[in-house]
Amino acid sequence: MTADASRATPGAAPSRVWRHARLATFQAGTPWGWIEDGALVTSAERITWVGPDRELPAALAAADETDLHGALVTPGLVDAHTHLVYGGDRAAEFEQRLQGATYEEIARAGGGIRSTVAATRAASDEALFAAAAQRARVLMAEGVTTLEVKSGYGLAEDHEARCLAAARRLAHELPLEVRTTSLAAHALPPEFTGRPDEYIDAACGWLAGQHAAGLVDAVDAFCDTIGFTPAQTQRIFAAARQLGLPVKLHAEQLSDQGGAALAARHGALSCDHLEHLSPDGITAMAAAGTVAVLLPGAYYYLRETRLPPVAALREAGVPMAIATDHNPGSSPALSLVLMLNMACTLFRLTPEEAWRGVTVHAARALGLSDRGRLAAGLRADFAVWDATHPRELAYRFGHAPCRQVVFGGMPRA
Ligand code: NIG
Ligand code: FE
Repeated sequence: MTADASRATPGAAPSRVWRHARLATFQAGTPWGWIEDGALVTSAERITWVGPDRELPAALAAADETDLHGALVTPGLVDAHTHLVYGGDRAAEFEQRLQGATYEEIARAGGGIRSTVAATRAASDEALFAAAAQRARVLMAEGVTTLEVKSGYGLAEDHEARCLAAARRLAHELPLEVRTTSLAAHALPPEFTGRPDEYIDAACGWLAGQHAAGLVDAVDAFCDTIGFTPAQTQRIFAAARQLGLPVKLHAEQLSDQGGAALAARHGALSCDHLEHLSPDGITAMAAAGTVAVLLPGAYYYLRETRLPPVAALREAGVPMAIATDHNPGSSPALSLVLMLNMACTLFRLTPEEAWRGVTVHAARALGLSDRGRLAAGLRADFAVWDATHPRELAYRFGHAPCRQVVFGGMPRA
């Protein structure tokens, strides 16, 4: 038996066997965690055995079997950073930017995030949910099985709660796991103009209620010149940590505010964007085990020219994740597979780094250790692709040949 193979618990009844797959397990130790002719056994929502097909124990081979004839199997994809719940769109703003206005100028003039806030507040609960569900289905069709969804377009206690509830409802109605993040500190709502500290006081106060209602898994903030200061971010983090909620941060996207180091001091799960990340920020993230979530969609769409410090992150051993950052303003992207290609072409990640970034490291950015790899004991979330190697999916773009997705051991219809 190889190091990748592991036995089922004696007596456990396997419900399904998947045979003759090319497996990218993303187990540590070997490139891609590769198994050329592999088999995978699932029981209920867990994987119970993974290894070379020839080592499949005879007792397990007798169960309900699917021959994949050499198709590629990867873990289900994890999109660790989205703003999926919002009203309206920003297509007109896209035109404005093409005529020369910058993202920051539009934001300062009351457009940008604030215009989405107005559309979100005007949308019914049902409309918010339906639009988010439609977007989620597009991501799911390309192998996404776990999705993070942030609030941050309500910016009032009731509207933030409505957005978080819509995100929770996605997981009830779709074969999908959703992790919710409270991002009340995304932008200053119009009714608090000139009073950002009072807004932060209010937003800190909403957290306990969101937490008690089971609406929130983590807390985020936008620490930047058009967002909130490090001192204001620090207050949000303190309120989150007091409730035992993990934190993450939109850090160093447009400028270096020292946000990554601040977040790392609060044990942040992740710091996201990071184009302006400093060497001190990298050191702090490495020491805290904080994941760097890189967002090539936003970098591309805002036509940024400053790259995140990928080589230094790699050198420091900071795990890198890749996400869509789906939102109406800076990244209206609905393909995590496309982000693989963009992470390689724009950020110079290797295809394997990009893939680890949408699987094992993305799961870690959400604090989840039960997915993102194919191994016994983990969730049976995986995707079957019409491909022979995962590098093919990073190499092409505009084409994501996902044949089937299995979520919690159940093939999705
Ligand atoms: O992740 N940076 C802040 N928030 C979003 C953009 C939000 C928007 O423009 O609506 C982001 O890029
Ligand atoms: Fe974002």
